[in-house]
Amino acid sequence: MLCGRTNVNKFLIEEQRRNTALVGDFSMLVSDVVRSCKAIAQGVSRGSLAGVLGDEGSENVQGEAQKKLDVLANEAFLRHCEWGGHLAAMASEEMEDIYPIGGEHPRGKYLLVFDPLDGSSNIDVNLSVGSIFSVLRCPEDCSAAQPTAADFLQPGSRQVAAGYALYGPSTMLVLTVGSGVYGFTLDRDIGEFLLTHPHLTISPETREFAINASNERFWEPPVQRYVSECLAGKTGVRGKDFNMRWVASMVAEVHRILMRGGVFMYPRDSKDKSKPGRLRLMYEANPMAMIVEQAGGLASTGSERILDVRPKGLHQRVPVILGSRDEVERLERYHHEHVNGDDQPFRSPLFSTRTLFRDD
Ligand code: AHG
Ligand code: MN
Ligand code: MN
Repeated sequence: MLCGRTNVNKFLIEEQRRNTALVGDFSMLVSDVVRSCKAIAQGVSRGSLAGVLGDEGSENVQGEAQKKLDVLANEAFLRHCEWGGHLAAMASEEMEDIYPIGGEHPRGKYLLVFDPLDGSSNIDVNLSVGSIFSVLRCPEDCSAAQPTAADFLQPGSRQVAAGYALYGPSTMLVLTVGSGVYGFTLDRDIGEFLLTHPHLTISPETREFAINASNERFWEPPVQRYVSECLAGKTGVRGKDFNMRWVASMVAEVHRILMRGGVFMYPRDSKDKSKPGRLRLMYEANPMAMIVEQAGGLASTGSERILDVRPKGLHQRVPVILGSRDEVERLERYHHEHVNGDDQPFRSPLFSTRTLFRDD
């Protein structure tokens, strides 16, 4: 079979023919992003052999220690995407300010936001990491003027495309351009992403949840209630046993949810009052929310649809609850009941709050 599976470039060109809203060189822009991910996949897979593990010795704008691969992956996105003439500017987790296109490179109509390497704490222990990206249109004609950070501050509902690459046992690319979610697997023999997972959907029901349980004492009551009910399993109000997973890479968590359902939470907590959540709206929550919704799931802050949040800053953080529809709806209801004081039975001392690791 010499020309069996659809590769990602053919997929993109066909999508652009179907969807006239995808103007100009959209498919070529996403192809540049795909090339960035291939380069990062190569670096990640060579690991120590390529000398790319360990700390860079610097901090990003959010005060997080940068790994060498955070910086290399950021460079890969910049170098592969800056010259094609499709972009007006880029922004990333690893850069305080936006990266306007100009000088020797022609300026285009789109904006690209990305998390070059997600799950950085997994790099040095050889576990899954990923890249996340989001494509926005430049408002008005910012391709003529110098783009600003304000041009990026559009709600996630305006994203034109979103995707991630997962550098796991195999490298996968998962993509939406607003009409479903498609998964591609990197065939290293021919250097191409081939369509292996058409029309990905998230089952509405699940028995699996993902949360960093070490933060339990900092969670708000609705999340404590939800998790305690999952842990109670068959003996509690849910009447069924749940399983729990935590990979510490949102890309890997979302991918698992696309494959077999589940709910992922990095909710608001009181650990650091200056941060309303751990994850960043523009390059983590929004692209993943678009993918999850396109696959039939839901993505919420607990009180609001993530894609409706109006961004105030490039590096703004937001609470994230996403995945199987029934569970996200339940979590939203618990938040709503808490605000209205309708969760009294849960708050009462008669309610046996199970902590995660109590052995009585
Ligand atoms: P990043 O490596 O880009 O900073 O993102 C890591 C994020 C996310 O992917 C993951 O869900 C979470 O942080 C892990 O947080 P914990 O350290 O609390 O496990
Ligand atoms: Mn991340
Ligand atoms: Mn990152």
